[in-house]
Amino acid sequence: MPRVLSVSPSEPDPAIIAEAVRVFRSGGLVAFPTETVYGLGARALDPAAIARVFAAKRRPLTHPLIAHVLGAADARALAGSWPERASTLAAAFWPGPLTMVVDRGDHVPPSVSGGGESLAVRAPSHAIARALIAALGEPIAAPSANGYQGLSPTLAAHVVKELGAAVDLVLDGGPCDAGVESTVVDVRGPVVRVLRPGALDLERLRGVAAVEAGTYTARGGEHRASPGMDARHYAPTARLLIAKTSEEAGQMAVHLASSGQRVGLVVHDAADTAFAEARVLLRRLPCDAVPYARLMYRTLHDLDDAGVDVIVTQAVPEGEAWWAIADRQRRAAT
Ligand code: TXA
Ligand code: MG
Repeated sequence: MPRVLSVSPSEPDPAIIAEAVRVFRSGGLVAFPTETVYGLGARALDPAAIARVFAAKRRPLTHPLIAHVLGAADARALAGSWPERASTLAAAFWPGPLTMVVDRGDHVPPSVSGGGESLAVRAPSHAIARALIAALGEPIAAPSANGYQGLSPTLAAHVVKELGAAVDLVLDGGPCDAGVESTVVDVRGPVVRVLRPGALDLERLRGVAAVEAGTYTARGGEHRASPGMDARHYAPTARLLIAKTSEEAGQMAVHLASSGQRVGLVVHDAADTAFAEARVLLRRLPCDAVPYARLMYRTLHDLDDAGVDVIVTQAVPEGEAWWAIADRQRRAAT
């Protein structure tokens, strides 16, 4: 099992941050909280450390990583070119849950980008993440700290469960605020193209730039513009089924339970859930997208930990506010 150290999420202890920096400098991997999900960090400019990240996650080498920096100046230093639009978006949303894809600078190891010519950069707002980047004085490559295609971690315990001894040190800063990953956009073209819906609202993006999200929506789970966006992704160990309404979800759950399966049921509306019976583990989530996202992965982790065979979840409402959540649900059910 990895070493786990508790850290204040608002005022991280400099001695613990210094210890994490020692682990980074010796080529090790440190998992840490961000405002979205926990990341599995390595020095972005150290190819050997990057190779360890791919191995720890059992992630295909073609799936690019995000380089985490303090701000636009550091991001620009990693980029081959830096469009005006990137400065505009950074000024509006960094630090925060926005990842921008730009051209990769020649000095950045290609393995960070999965061998490609582009590079994803993001300046996280979480105090622990920022303290680590500042103390290390270098960018930190950090995918979500879970195994390939698995559920992202929103608690340190999820990281330990997912990665075990493959990570050297886990900084436990408590639960992540957003609970869903950053919004990934490609800023190299004439418009801002959404590659992954996430914690930053599209509506807010549109406030500062022309955004192209249509292709993503239209192609749904078949979307291939972002390497690393598999149809199946973000999935619990249990099979995940989506039902249109809470009533339908309840009926499915009871039916599955009656055939002897252990069943989890996730609903978010106030409908009568008297259908839930002893053999069905019922979890209620909030009806607003932001608090729903905060608890989503945690709820699925809990049901996995409880050993259910199948999870039936009520489909979330249509509409952009729920887009990131609907995307994760669809991929998890694939
Ligand atoms: O919120 C987050 O973004 C978290 C925290 C730890 O910062 N990180 C995260 O990383 O979710 P990861 O590796 O699990 O997901 C990165 C996403 C993938 O969908 C990948 O395809 C996309 O970003 N991505 C990364 N680099 C890219 C690139 N050069 N071009 C296109 N897509 C890229
Ligand atoms: Mg991930």
